[in-house]
Amino acid sequence: MCGIVGYIGFRRADQVIISALKRLEYRGYDSWGVAVKHGNSLEIIKRVGAIGDVENYSLAEGNIGIGHTRWATHGKPSEINAHPHTDCDNKIAVVHNGIISNFQSLREELESRGHKFSSETDTEVIAHLIEEEYRGDLKEAVMKAIKRLRGSYAIVVMHAETEELVAVKYKSPLVIGVGDGEWFITSDVPAVLDYTNRVIYLVDGDVAKLWNDGFTIWNNGKEVERKVETVPWSIEDAEKGGYEHFMLKEIHETPRVIEDTLFEYLSEDIKIDVSFSAGISEIVFVACGTSYHASLIGKCLIEKLTGIPVRVEYASEFIYNPPPMSRTLVIAITQSGETADTLEAMRIAKKHGARVVTIVNVLGSTATRIADYVLYTRAGPEISVAATKSFTAQLVVLYLLALKLSKLPGSEIEKLVDELRIMPELVRRVLEYEEEIEQIAEEIADFEGMIYIGRGIGVPIAMEGALKMKEISYIHAEAYPAGELKHGPFALLGRDTPVIALLIPDKTYEIMLNNIKEVKARESLVVAVADEDDAEVEKYVDFVIRVPKTNSVFTAITYSVALQLLAYYTARKRGCEIDKPRNLAKSVTVE
Ligand code: F6R
Repeated sequence: MCGIVGYIGFRRADQVIISALKRLEYRGYDSWGVAVKHGNSLEIIKRVGAIGDVENYSLAEGNIGIGHTRWATHGKPSEINAHPHTDCDNKIAVVHNGIISNFQSLREELESRGHKFSSETDTEVIAHLIEEEYRGDLKEAVMKAIKRLRGSYAIVVMHAETEELVAVKYKSPLVIGVGDGEWFITSDVPAVLDYTNRVIYLVDGDVAKLWNDGFTIWNNGKEVERKVETVPWSIEDAEKGGYEHFMLKEIHETPRVIEDTLFEYLSEDIKIDVSFSAGISEIVFVACGTSYHASLIGKCLIEKLTGIPVRVEYASEFIYNPPPMSRTLVIAITQSGETADTLEAMRIAKKHGARVVTIVNVLGSTATRIADYVLYTRAGPEISVAATKSFTAQLVVLYLLALKLSKLPGSEIEKLVDELRIMPELVRRVLEYEEEIEQIAEEIADFEGMIYIGRGIGVPIAMEGALKMKEISYIHAEAYPAGELKHGPFALLGRDTPVIALLIPDKTYEIMLNNIKEVKARESLVVAVADEDDAEVEKYVDFVIRVPKTNSVFTAITYSVALQLLAYYTARKRGCEIDKPRNLAKSVTVE
């Protein structure tokens, strides 16, 4: 996810673009850049860091320009990798949101024909491809160049010697802002709301040309009309895509995040080079919070599918008692890549001779520099403090890693990969139950303590569900393996303590049902999370949250999304400040 903006009109382009990029910072904030046409040349500025921090900069005056705020996917955050990217002569500039999956082969081909690249990005190939096709008509050149691209892209292109912007949308969003005598093109509506509320949402395959008198849109080579819509939102609403909170928006982004992460690692085969696992005798996960819970699920998956013994350590404890690590693979899971305890655990693991892999969301973060090998999740920036979509992306990478390391027969692996491919659809189905989950949340929102129970893979799912609940609703929620209840927590049961019970459709099902009956006998209200086909459960519980049926190993995804919604609506009913819970920070950079 990145934010892009183009402007053509009567104002100073740099000022419009920088103010618009600030509105898109939630889409990426590791670096930014702007190009402005000045005479017959392009003036370009690029900086590392968030555009919100910019105070002083100097750029020549001009009324046409493009800009970008970056969330790095290829190439670390740096001035060189910041957009806009240019061709060999610095005449053509491009900003891009998306991923060009065949950029490596295109780059080699272009280099063999003498093109000089100055960045590590996938985007730069677009500028050089357009350069090769340019014969005085920018739109024609862009249309020819994009035929070579695979992946997803929203791009805006300008040329130093022409008075126009050319934009293309394919699988990444792009919106035209229609002003009076000025035109905007951007990834998302908030960027232009200071100037106009009239917008056109482009559709896949649209190519748009904007110039001083207006714009034209083509699709499949034919000119097309697109409806101008009036946006009824405030800027703040628009940044959240119409959702009340970033957390809810991010939960709803989960299907796309799963698709992007699968796109990164799946072609015919699972594209993870597991040479880092050669000769290992065990795996140790180190992580904190939600990433620790992802690690516990990773343990279930890896042990089940590969037989390799796995331990999971809190990063903050691992640093005091590092275990012997001669043939150990340490996997550090971290969304931010900046959690101090996790970084320290990684450093200690390396000092003790372990190989260190990180599963991380933020490109160029410190974890990526410490690790010997990096596996990226493709969740995009996560603004809400509570991790949601990034957790699911971690799970997807763990599934793929476990399958890649697995010694199962190829046909069985293929079957599981096929099931993984339909997870975006299954999560969309979980989201269809949102209203029912909201109603159930209203029933439990007045309690001050609750217990989550599960068995097997249900235990770490319960732990993550309870963490979400406590951190955003301030309800004291604890998770236990259901079998442990009788060894103490049973004393807490009663009318004041609801129980959230996870019924996984596997060998734990029958015994869980018995545990639920025992809980009910103590008068606790019980909310079960169970699959759609389960007709039995509702006889024994007060409410059921339904999730679509899936292989039990994949329930970690569907059940967790349902529990994220339960926590969200409970916190909302209690009037909590959901995106920024008290006392918490998104990135914990102190030990
Ligand atoms: C909870 C949450 C935290 C983080 C933890 C680790 O919703 O977000 O528990 O999971 O602080 O952060 P990362 O994954 O960035 O290392």
